[in-house]
Amino acid sequence: MTDVSNIEPHENSEIVVTGKGGVGKSTVAAHLAGRSAAEGTPTLLIAMTGQEDDDFGITKNGCGTHPEGESVLEGLGLFRAIERNEPLRPIRGVRPNLDVVPGGQAVGRVQQILATRLMHEGLSVYQALARSLSLIAHRYGRVVIDGAPEDDTLEQLGLAAARRLWIPTRSDESSIKGIQRIATNFKIVRKRQINPYLELGGAFLYGSNPSATSIHAMVRDDVLGILGPNARMLSTVVGYREKPAMLARKRGLLFGELAALLPASPKSYDVAAGRAKESDVIPEASVKLAEDMQALTTEIFEAITKAQG
Ligand SMILES: Nc1ncnc2c1ncn2[C@@H]1O[C@H](COP(=O)(O)OP(=O)(O)O)[C@@H](O)[C@H]1O
Ligand SMILES: [Mg+2]
Repeated sequence: MTDVSNIEPHENSEIVVTGKGGVGKSTVAAHLAGRSAAEGTPTLLIAMTGQEDDDFGITKNGCGTHPEGESVLEGLGLFRAIERNEPLRPIRGVRPNLDVVPGGQAVGRVQQILATRLMHEGLSVYQALARSLSLIAHRYGRVVIDGAPEDDTLEQLGLAAARRLWIPTRSDESSIKGIQRIATNFKIVRKRQINPYLELGGAFLYGSNPSATSIHAMVRDDVLGILGPNARMLSTVVGYREKPAMLARKRGLLFGELAALLPASPKSYDVAAGRAKESDVIPEASVKLAEDMQALTTEIFEAITKAQG
């Protein structure tokens, strides 16, 4: 058995994860990474998810320069790096200063190899991503991980590779159960010394009606009931705005990039007059969505600066 020896994560490495799908993890991770890069920090986004969300338009719009050799799309880059104990091979320049290791179906195979290795190698298998990342992390000023939910092995693999954990939640019961699950994995990863550097950044409610303040208060109580009364619950609540959120992902654009297209966008009356298609119309609500996301990422970055003292 290999001993669990410390692999210190990058000092600016954040993981966005909770034990539940569809709560906004990938969206928030993409926007944290996108903003960090836009502000001039060389940034790496690692998507550990089985879905290929393509928030940056890597496949759709052909953004970024792929590494030479085998394809890293569909989670294959992540899978092979872990399987072979090799450095991650990101797609470079997806935006200025932004490299991405894309998620996708092959992430499911990571789970299988880890389960097999656990018997021979012990707990250090959970450090597989941390190891592959540590070989390239020095190139970056920030690393953001979009964590995989609903699987303890993958959750722990992600938690082993980051400095801080950020937990998004919706208001429903199963999202709260998802927090319970990630909180347990957080404790395991720290207690077993897989990553003693890991800290709880905070939790936040995502995709909710901003005026539903009594619901927000109840969620807050539930979250602090699980994470402890001293945990940080962020005050920004990004509103539920289905149309612009869906359109942004469909086009491979961040919310701010979508909102920037609004002034030149055709209007509903252009659609009615047959001059444009419905899908060409940028909704007015994209501005508010972009503002909400800007507020959330500001609050997260401020909390990080404070935590670093
Ligand atoms: N503010 C929002 N309002 C409405 N829908 C949203 C919002 N942000 C993201 N979405 C949509 O919600 C779904 C889940 O978001 P995603 O970030 O993929 O969650 P997760 O990574 O936790 O599974 C996606 O279809 C996404 O486009
Ligand atoms: Mg996701």
